[in-house]
Amino acid sequence: MSEHFNSLVTDSDPLIASALQAELQRQQNQIELIASENIVSRAVLETLGHAMTNKTLEGYPGKRFHGGGQHVDTAEQAAIDRACELFGCAYANVQPHSGSQANLAVFFALLKPGDRVLSLDLAAGGHLSHGLGANLSGRWFEAHHYGVDRDTGTIDYEQVAARAHEIKPRLLITGGSAYPRQIDFERLAAIAQSVDALFLVDMAHIAGLVAGGVHPSPIPHADIVTCTTTKTLRGPRGGLILARDADWARRFQSSVFPGVQGSIHSQVIAAKAVCLGEALQPSFAQYTRSIVDNARALSEALQDGGITVVSGGTDTHLVLLDFSAIGLLGSEAEGRLDRVGITSNKNPIPFDAANPANWVGLRLGVAAATTRGLDAASFRQLGHTIATVLTASDNDQQARESAARDTVAALCGAHPIYSH
Ligand SMILES: Cc1ncc(COP(=O)(O)O)c(C=O)c1O
Repeated sequence: MSEHFNSLVTDSDPLIASALQAELQRQQNQIELIASENIVSRAVLETLGHAMTNKTLEGYPGKRFHGGGQHVDTAEQAAIDRACELFGCAYANVQPHSGSQANLAVFFALLKPGDRVLSLDLAAGGHLSHGLGANLSGRWFEAHHYGVDRDTGTIDYEQVAARAHEIKPRLLITGGSAYPRQIDFERLAAIAQSVDALFLVDMAHIAGLVAGGVHPSPIPHADIVTCTTTKTLRGPRGGLILARDADWARRFQSSVFPGVQGSIHSQVIAAKAVCLGEALQPSFAQYTRSIVDNARALSEALQDGGITVVSGGTDTHLVLLDFSAIGLLGSEAEGRLDRVGITSNKNPIPFDAANPANWVGLRLGVAAATTRGLDAASFRQLGHTIATVLTASDNDQQARESAARDTVAALCGAHPIYSH
C-alpha cells in the first residue's frame, strides 16, 4: 500500500504537526472563555477526521448528483431526523457550511436584492451576517437596525415596533453573538406580523440552551430559524436551517443547493449527526443547566470584584463586561487575561465606539469550560481571579497575574481534556 495511506502528519509535515500539537496543548493549558467556542467530544473529533471526507455529493439524501452516496445518506438523514426531534420542527437542512452560509441561504430564499431587513445592531450584540455594510447581507440588502435600552442593556421592544412600522422590513431578524439575556420571540413575532414581515431567528449562540430546555425555543414563533452547530450545541463547525413546518421546504432546499453552495462536507454532516445525537441525551440537558448556573456564578463574582456587567447579569452562557467606568480597553483586558492563561475576546458594548481599537467591552462565555467540568464554585473562583487581574494597578499587576496563573493552572490540571 502506498505510503500516502499510512504516513502520519508528524512524519509528512513537521510544520503543521507542531502547530497541531501546540494548539492541543494551548487548549489543554488555558481556560477557554470565548463565548462562541466549545470542546467537542472524542466521537465528534473522530467523525471529522474520517475518510467520509473523500466523498463528493451534491443534492439531498436519495436524490444525489453522484453515485456511491448511500452511507453519507444514512448520516445526513440521521442528522435531519435528530435536528427535527431535538428542536421540535418539521424541516431541517443540515448542509450549510457555516452559520453565515445558513443566513445567506435564507436571504436568498426570502429576499430580492434591495429588500429591507431590520436586525439587532452589531454593538448591541447582533451579527455581521445580519446586514453589516461590509458583509454581502448589508451590501445587497437595505439593512436597518434596532438596539437595546441604554439603562437596562436589554432589547427595547418598543423601539423594535416603532422601527418596524417606520421601515416596513421584508424580514425582521433577531439573535446575535453578544446578547446575554433571553429574547422574547413571541413579542418579536407579533411585531413582524403587524408589519407583514417574515421573522428569522438566528439562535447560533443559544442553540444548545434551546435544545437543553433552558432558553425558550424560537421554533413556535419564527418563520425560519438558523444556527451554528458550534458554540453551545457543542458540535462541528457548520450551520443548520430549521422551520416549524415544511411549507417552504422546497424553497430552502434549493436556496442552499444549488443556491449558495455546491457539494456537501460529508464528514461534517456526519459529525453534526453525532453532536445532535449527543444533544438528545438527558446528560446534555443537565450540561445546559450547568452552563446557566456557571454563567450566573461568573457574572456575580465579577460584579463583586468591581466589574460592570452589561444588563446586570445573564440568562445564557454569555457575560459581557463593560470597562467604561474603570478606564480599561477591551484589547488590554484580553491581553491581561491571555497572559494568565484565560482566552477571551474584546467586544463592543451597547453604544460603544465604532473603532474596535477603542471598544471598552470584553465577551466571556462558559460553555467550553463547563464541558471541561468546571462547576459554579470554580466559576466563582475564576470570576474573582479575573476581577483581580482586570482591576490591578501598575504596582500590583505582576503579583496578581502570577497568582492568577497558578489558579488557572490548577483548574486546568484538575479538569484535563483529550488526555489520551
Ligand atoms: C448569531 C450568529 N450568527 C451567525 C454566526 C456565523 O457563524 P459562522 O462563523 O459559522 O459563519 C455567528 C458566529 O459567531 C453568530 O454568532
